[in-house]
Amino acid sequence: MRHSLRLSALLIILALSSPAQMPEKFTNLQVLPKDIKRAQLIDKMKSFAMGLGVRCPFCHVGEEGKPLSTFDFATDDKPNKAIARKMLAMVMEINTKHLPNAGLDEPIEISCYTCHRGSKEPALTSPMPPPPPAGQAPGEKPKETPKEQPKETPKL
Ligand code: HEC
Ligand code: HEC
Repeated sequence: MRHSLRLSALLIILALSSPAQMPEKFTNLQVLPKDIKRAQLIDKMKSFAMGLGVRCPFCHVGEEGKPLSTFDFATDDKPNKAIARKMLAMVMEINTKHLPNAGLDEPIEISCYTCHRGSKEPALTSPMPPPPPAGQAPGEKPKETPKEQPKETPKL
């Protein structure tokens, strides 16, 4: 798992090290600033891919392994691109509206990775609570409650 993540990171970096393959002009930006610098857009796209543990064709029309010049990045034919756009708008709103007013000591920004952590499907709930002790059904109250609580709190 870790290895394949590292490998795909490497492949993405390799793919992006030939920027001549990327279009010069962007024609269908609806959430990112339309005048975004090319290098900044590439950084964003790298962080999307790394955040979700996917490669460019997860959201863009194009064939894995083919040069990026053969991709159609502007088209919205892939449903994941539309989802990603909504997610991006959500992240930008959190970063510009909510986090600055959250009373944190230092200004911070979240990213796709904050939730996704390298996975397409972030966990929706916290991990299950630990199983009950042997002989006790889930949800059942413990059979014996200790009668006396320790009188002194142990010194730490
Ligand atoms: C998780 C989905 C996702 C991944 C993965 C992704 N992109 Fe994107 N990409 C988007 C979205 C969404 C937009 C449109 C943003 C907007 O509307 O402001 C976009 C826009 C672009 C554009 C601008 C297209 C135009 O003309 O409007 C380029 C170029 C691009 N991506 C390249 C890449 C490359 C290269 C990779 C792989 C490193 C990549 N993307 C990975 C979601 C993704
Ligand atoms: C606040 C948490 C959160 C953040 C931040 C977040 N996502 Fe998501 N994302 C989710 C959840 C939850 C799902 C639904 C997972 C599921 O279907 O179980 C999801 C699903 C997706 C999917 C669909 C994946 C699939 O296989 O169906 C895409 C694409 C996606 N997110 C892109 C992004 C991108 C790009 C960013 C950063 C711009 C981002 N997300 C940031 C929570 C988040």
